[in-house]
Amino acid sequence: MHPLLARHLAAAQATPTTAPSDWPAFLDSLDAALTAEAAVRDRIDAELRLAQKLEAVGQLAAGIAHELNTPIQYVGDTLQFLESSVAQIRAYGLVAAAVTDELARQPGCEAPVARLREAAEEADLEYLFPRLPEAFARATEGVERVGALVRAVKEFAHPDELEVVPSDLNRAVETTLTVAKNEYKYVARVRTELGAVPPVTCHLGQITQVLVNLVVNAAHAIADARRAEPGEIVVRTVRDGSDVVISVEDDGVGIPPEVQPRIFDPFFTTKEVGRGTGQGLAIAHAVVERHGGALTFSTELGRGTTFLLRLPIGGAVAAR
Ligand SMILES: Nc1ncnc2c1ncn2[C@@H]1O[C@H](COP(=O)(O)OP(=O)(O)OP(=O)(O)O)[C@@H](O)[C@H]1O
Ligand SMILES: [Mg+2]
Repeated sequence: MHPLLARHLAAAQATPTTAPSDWPAFLDSLDAALTAEAAVRDRIDAELRLAQKLEAVGQLAAGIAHELNTPIQYVGDTLQFLESSVAQIRAYGLVAAAVTDELARQPGCEAPVARLREAAEEADLEYLFPRLPEAFARATEGVERVGALVRAVKEFAHPDELEVVPSDLNRAVETTLTVAKNEYKYVARVRTELGAVPPVTCHLGQITQVLVNLVVNAAHAIADARRAEPGEIVVRTVRDGSDVVISVEDDGVGIPPEVQPRIFDPFFTTKEVGRGTGQGLAIAHAVVERHGGALTFSTELGRGTTFLLRLPIGGAVAAR
C-alpha cells in the first residue's frame, strides 16, 4: 500500500468517530495529499532532467572548447610567424625603395627604375606597409581573446573533476567572469580586488556554479534598476582567519525586506519565466553548507546588495 494512503487510513481508523458520512471529507483530504505529492514529484523530476541536461551541455561545451584549443593555438603561432615574416619583407622593401632612388640617379637605369617603381605602385606598398602592424595587432588580439575564452570554458566546465582539492579561488573568479561576460557586459562593468588568498579545499566546479549565479543575479539587479549609465559589480577575495571570503557587490535594485527571508527557498523567484527559476541561491546555499561555509548577504533597497561567500580554507572536514 502507498505510504500516504496507509498514513491516512491509520489516521482515519484512529479516530473512533469516523462515520460513513465522514468518508467524502476523508477522500477529499487524501486526494489533496496525493495531488500535492504528485506535484512535488513532477517538480523533482523536472529539476533532475534540467540538471542532467545542464550537465550534458557542460560536457559538450568542455569537449568543444578542448577541440578548439589546438586550432586556436595553430592560428596564433601562424599569425606570429606571418607577422615576423612580413616585418622582414617590409625591411627588404624599404631597402629596395632606397636602392631604386639611388639607381634613379645613375644614367642608363631609367628602364629598370621605372619597372621597380611601377611594381611598387601596383602592390600599393605605400598604403600597405603602415597598416600592416595594426592589422596584425588586431588579429592577434582577437585570437588571444578567443583563446582565453576557450581556456576559461575548458577550465570552468571541469567535466570529470569530482573530487575536492585545494583550489585557486582567484583564478576561479577570473574564469567565471570570462565565461559569464555575456550576462553582464551590457549592464555593468566588473571590477575585481583579489587578495592574496591561499588555495581552498573545495569542489571547484560547484563553487564556480555558485559564483556564476551570484554574478548573474547582480547583473539582473543592475538591469532592473534601469539606469542610463552602466552599473558596477565588484568581486573581492580576502582571507579572514581560517576562511576565504568572496564577496560579490552590485549597485542594483536591492532586495525588498519582504523578499529577503525567502531568497534561499527553492523555486522562489521574482523574475519572469525564462529569466530565472529560483534555484540559483537554493543550490548555492546547499553547496556552501556542504563545504562547511556560509552564504550571507547585506542589502539596501535602491542602493545594492553584497553577497558574502565564506569557505573554510581546509574544506568541510577542517571546518567541522
Ligand atoms: N543581487 C541581487 N539583488 C537583488 N535581488 C536579488 C539578488 N540576488 C537574488 N535576488 C533575489 O532573490 C531571488 C532568488 O534568486 P535565485 O538566484 O535563487 O533565483 P533566480 O535568480 O530568480 O533564478 P535562477 O538563479 O534559478 O536563474 C531573485 O529572484 C531575486 O528576487
Ligand atoms: Mg539567480
